[in-house]
Amino acid sequence: MTHAPAGEEPAMTHALVGEGIDRVDARAKTGGRAAYPTDVTHPGLAHAVLVQSTVAAGRITALDTAAAEAAPGVLAVLTHENVPPLQEAPDRSASLPPPPLRDDRIRHHGQTVAVVVADTFEQATEAARLVRAGYAAEPPIADLDHPDAPHDHDPFGSDGGTGDVEKALEAAPVRVERTYRTAANTNNPMGPFATVARWDGDRLTVHDCTQGPSRTRADLAATLGVPPEAVRVLAPYLGGGFGAGLRTWGHTVLAAVAARQVGRPVKLVLTRKQMFTSVGHRPDTKQTVRLGATRDGRLTALDHRAWQSLSMTDVNKEPVAANSQDSYASPNIATRDVQVRLHVPAPGSMRAPGDAQGNHALECALDELAYELGMDPVELRLRNYAEEHPVTGQQWSANDLRACYRAGAEAFGWSRRDPEPRSARRGRTLIGYGMAGTSFFFYQAPCAARITVTRDGGAVVESSGMDLGTGTYTVMTQLAAELLGLPVRAVRMVMGDSSLPAAPSAGGSGLTAALGTAVHTASRHLFRAFLDLVRHDPASPLRDVGVDGVRAKDGRIVRTDDGRGERYTDLLARHGRDALSAEGSAEAPGEDGAVVPTGPYAAKFAEVHVDQDLGVIRVARLVTAAHCGRVLNEKTARSQLVGGTVGGIGMALLEETVTEPHTGRIANPTLGDYLVAVNADIPRLDVRFVGGPDPSNPNGTKGCGELGIPGTTAAIANAVFHATGVRVRRLPIRIEDVL
Ligand code: MOS
Repeated sequence: MTHAPAGEEPAMTHALVGEGIDRVDARAKTGGRAAYPTDVTHPGLAHAVLVQSTVAAGRITALDTAAAEAAPGVLAVLTHENVPPLQEAPDRSASLPPPPLRDDRIRHHGQTVAVVVADTFEQATEAARLVRAGYAAEPPIADLDHPDAPHDHDPFGSDGGTGDVEKALEAAPVRVERTYRTAANTNNPMGPFATVARWDGDRLTVHDCTQGPSRTRADLAATLGVPPEAVRVLAPYLGGGFGAGLRTWGHTVLAAVAARQVGRPVKLVLTRKQMFTSVGHRPDTKQTVRLGATRDGRLTALDHRAWQSLSMTDVNKEPVAANSQDSYASPNIATRDVQVRLHVPAPGSMRAPGDAQGNHALECALDELAYELGMDPVELRLRNYAEEHPVTGQQWSANDLRACYRAGAEAFGWSRRDPEPRSARRGRTLIGYGMAGTSFFFYQAPCAARITVTRDGGAVVESSGMDLGTGTYTVMTQLAAELLGLPVRAVRMVMGDSSLPAAPSAGGSGLTAALGTAVHTASRHLFRAFLDLVRHDPASPLRDVGVDGVRAKDGRIVRTDDGRGERYTDLLARHGRDALSAEGSAEAPGEDGAVVPTGPYAAKFAEVHVDQDLGVIRVARLVTAAHCGRVLNEKTARSQLVGGTVGGIGMALLEETVTEPHTGRIANPTLGDYLVAVNADIPRLDVRFVGGPDPSNPNGTKGCGELGIPGTTAAIANAVFHATGVRVRRLPIRIEDVL
């Protein structure tokens, strides 16, 4: 790990909370002791298996379940004809797709039409094969360009901009107008999604592959029509999510319904194929970017329109074009996001939702503009750095994007690049350099946490927020240890349980700031509780001091003025307490002031090698310089960026969920046919952190979970152009595109 200097700014290489320590849950995970939802079992557990439609549009005309019901071990077959009513929550949020099995309509290929419950998984699987469905099929609308596809415009309310782009484009001395496409991608976590549901009387306990236990609890309660207090959702560990765990999917609801129906706990595990139709995906996009600029490379107009696919009755939508509102300085900006309704499974978030697609188009268009201008692409971006929010004029809370460009270019050796396409080769290998910038969106939601210090000198930190593999257990342990003045080993993080203080979903790169701020607040409330304990204690040097006058150090609360203090353990013992707890909560920082909280930033530099004869494209090097605020753990933060970059390489060159336009069927729903980047596709990935802490939260952090993908795809596409002279405006870039 390298800390690069931040350009002209004063040296801002930050102090780390802790070392890049190993994950605190590493041993539990590698030793097989971490219980993933698929591992959970109960006495009397029954198994549920989904039956899915084999047409993409139309109606179910007949559903014959007799053979399945008569099969060995079968306990129930649920269909739309016999499922108890499921509520469509009145405030149906983006996290809750329409309920499953609601009527006889078919809205996509692979839609759940029945769920079979049996004593064993094998019996349920066999009986599922015996369910006979008849359909009145209609031709599906399964293609973004389909003339009959209904369009929804801006239910998100995120369209916007400033000035008059049309006028500015007309007047611009240099113009670029290009259309780009990005393929649908499917989240493919290693762990197949699963739900284990158990009813004890009116109380429901669910282990689920969710990124948000609090949210899943609320969604389940609303759908099942039970009070939220009666539902407990557990997700202490997850085998990856990449955003698939941000919605409460039909199989989770059906597992709970089935368990109630058969009066036994029920486990439902999706097959890999069902993962492609049941837990969301990154929608494909078509995007048109129009840029106007002066000859010296100042943007005068930025117009970004995006069409993204959406299922027929869902509300999911992503800010694809919207991210262009705060990426570059331009007096005239307009963005517009359109949702195109198709007979496809409900989409959902997939790492850097919207931004991954939108950033790609914007950053490729800027590269094309750089060539129009004969200007270096880094210089073009520096010239258009947004000193303030280009639409609102607000100040950024912390934006060291310029330091990212400089540090990344330096580390990569960008100055050696001859901009001429096809100018670099080794033998029959064409070599290309490309780069892109990223201004990632800011997201933070209200969050709570509880800290308990116990008589043995340890602390337990509790929150319903979960760790989907990003390292939240670890960084929160480090943060709490620092705030409480305890060694890391004395702090235990308990997470992933909706009965703990409410937290937002692990998503939008927002949990570190949300939970970190809640833990910070809870630590102050805990100090206050200790100070209250000794308020009338003549023996305590802390009796007359306020929370602002103390800090924690070496297992003690000490006065900041004279350093006198007491051990937690002594305070508890003298006052006859086994433990002391305090809860803290955090709201998102306000956006209406003069300062707007900002997300993370990055610059990405890629070197690609293209075989001139075979068209095979290899990423040979990739450098990321990222401004992630104060980094809580170098190792886990770097791992997030490396993992995201691997995803970005996949999105750029490999990943594509192929839907057959005439059947609406996904043609490649296996890990053999849906290509993801594997070790052999990944070169040395150089990740360095630059820039200062972000003052919008007390810990100085920025989210960094999703920063790996945006910028990576455009840097690769721009490098492919530099190598080959071929501008490929569709992802993934394939061999045949460059031949
Ligand atoms: Mo992510 S798409 O915020 O899990």
